[in-house]
Amino acid sequence: MIVAATHAPSAINQQPWAFTVVRDQGILDLISRNAKNHMIATVPAAAASDRIHVHVTDANFHIFYHAPALILISGIVQGPWIVEDCALAAENLMLAAYGAGLGSCWIGLAQSFLNTPEGKKSIGTPAAWISVAPIIVGYPQAVTAPVSRNEPVVRWVG
Ligand SMILES: Cc1cc2nc3c(=O)[nH]c(=O)nc-3n(C[C@H](O)[C@H](O)[C@H](O)COP(=O)(O)O)c2cc1C
Repeated sequence: MIVAATHAPSAINQQPWAFTVVRDQGILDLISRNAKNHMIATVPAAAASDRIHVHVTDANFHIFYHAPALILISGIVQGPWIVEDCALAAENLMLAAYGAGLGSCWIGLAQSFLNTPEGKKSIGTPAAWISVAPIIVGYPQAVTAPVSRNEPVVRWVG
């Protein structure tokens, strides 16, 4: 999966990513709690969607759904396209996970906390790294129905 992620395209082939694999459930529990508290403290209730507000204020909601592993893709050098590069690596990783019979999900709820000094310390990533894509991976408990998609907005010019 991680090798597949590294086959993603990147601006000027900088490959500006690193992968931190966290399997310790104690650490994931701690991040889940802290990330929810961080959201509550930093995102005004009015700005959060109802669904997010309900989740982050629910003590029983685990942002990683008790998945066995988190793979955090971090940007490790400076540059204008670090986030795009890491997001493309994340998509490759998720497709490779699916190909291997695994489920995966990008957990945006973790991002903000994992970019704080405390969040980086909790998983030992250097202060200069940017936490871009927290992806949980595990064996799905059930087959879920595909989530519907809106009609694409397509404009033809000329
Ligand atoms: C940037 C990003 C952040 C996301 N954050 C979360 C999250 O915090 N929790 C969650 O359960 N799903 C999260 N998702 C998953 C989306 O909810 C999901 O991709 C979307 O509902 C479409 O469903 P599908 O991927 O199964 O087709 C995130 C997806 C992206 C791309």
